[in-house]
Amino acid sequence: MQKYVINGKKPLYGTVEISGAKNAAVAILPAALLVDGVCRIENIPQISDVTLILRILQELGADVRLINKNTVQIDSTHINRYHVPEKLSRQMRASYYFIGALLGRFGEAVVSMPGGCDLGTRPIDLHIKSFQSLGASVNVVAGYVRASAPEEGLKGTSIYLDQASVGATMNAMLAASTAHGLTIIENAAKEPHIVDLANFLNAMGADIMGAGTDVIRIRGVRELHGGTYSIIPDQIEAGTYMAAVAAVGGDVIIKNVIPKHLDCISAKLMEMGVHVEEMGDAVRVRRMGELRRINVRTMPYPGFPTDMQPQIAACLCLANGTSMVNEGIWENRYRYVSEFRRMGARIQVDGKVAVIEGVDRLMGATLCACDLRAGAAMVIAGLAAEGTTEISRIHYIERGYEKLVEKFQGLGADIKLVEQPDDETRPHSRAV
Ligand code: EPZ
Repeated sequence: MQKYVINGKKPLYGTVEISGAKNAAVAILPAALLVDGVCRIENIPQISDVTLILRILQELGADVRLINKNTVQIDSTHINRYHVPEKLSRQMRASYYFIGALLGRFGEAVVSMPGGCDLGTRPIDLHIKSFQSLGASVNVVAGYVRASAPEEGLKGTSIYLDQASVGATMNAMLAASTAHGLTIIENAAKEPHIVDLANFLNAMGADIMGAGTDVIRIRGVRELHGGTYSIIPDQIEAGTYMAAVAAVGGDVIIKNVIPKHLDCISAKLMEMGVHVEEMGDAVRVRRMGELRRINVRTMPYPGFPTDMQPQIAACLCLANGTSMVNEGIWENRYRYVSEFRRMGARIQVDGKVAVIEGVDRLMGATLCACDLRAGAAMVIAGLAAEGTTEISRIHYIERGYEKLVEKFQGLGADIKLVEQPDDETRPHSRAV
């Protein structure tokens, strides 16, 4: 076991380079299964979720070669298995993309129900309905999703999503890419990673239009061919460093970003009094004075992302006045609150609303990460706090942030990765 040890209150200065987008990579890598050939995928982040996906691809029979630390070559020509082992798929949410990809390639998929961060109930009914609309029979038996296309293959159809679900939109795109005829997804999600998956599939010969709007049209093609593709930069990783500068202070250039994807985050930071300046494929973030209170409501893209809610809450703990946060996507995304209170934060949670009364200072404490973004928010709070903060269960954080310690150290932060004796880990309180 390892933990982070942070000595806070050191303003951040310098340049940080953003890695490839986790939530694009975890869909694009399984999508390589649809290709009867070789895909070279660049700008993949070095994070544990990606390592798991690559292991699943290997277990299924793909030839996976790391060309360098951020480029992988996947040859799916000889894949002959469509059963994703439970021990791997249960460790991560995104294993559900193997259902759409395997269904599209073989007309068959057996995938254990996905795991991932505990953010409340995380149903996959919309994924299942989409596969069924395409003609597949889908059963959930003994913890496994078993999907099977009819003999004549999947057939293009009209899919209306009751909610603009990211995962269901991507899974429907995967399965429909090689279906017969036209599929129209209505009320589709519009996140940047949806567009990235569509661009990847199109680069491999698919025919997908409208990704990034709420109507996506997919004309099924007989097969996809190999090719090279580079994954977009991670919107949430960039947002996390932006929030860190806001909370801690300093002047940082965040490179390798698509500033348009950050507009929803920049707007809120600017409302708090933080300077955000676009510089081509970088943004410069500076905190000059005090942070102002704001209200935040999380919404599907282009609204403020739920995956940035804990990080902005860390900033609001130190803002001037009382802020309101309204979580519009997940029912259980305030599990970090009990940890922040240990640092002296004043937060009340009622259902989906958190009321945060800004305090003059946070004090370092011993914390326990409870999910990926909550863990990132604890790092921000630790960097902004007086004294020493220790964060355990960092495996959650490493699921989604490449080289977080090195990147913050490069900005002048005093953060270290240290070995932790097993008996030091405190069970996380679920009181909130
Ligand atoms: C993706 O999860 C991301 N994960 C999440 O990021 C992110 O929080 C979420 O989208 C929202 O942006 C990946 O991309 C791997 P949804 P996903 O389907 O696809 C309901 C992170 O920290 N819903 O868009 O699972 C659901 O309960 C992670 O990086 C159904 O009701 O999210 C939720 O309220 C955490 N039925 C809403 O829709 C379904 O079948 C949105 O979920 C599917 C979803």
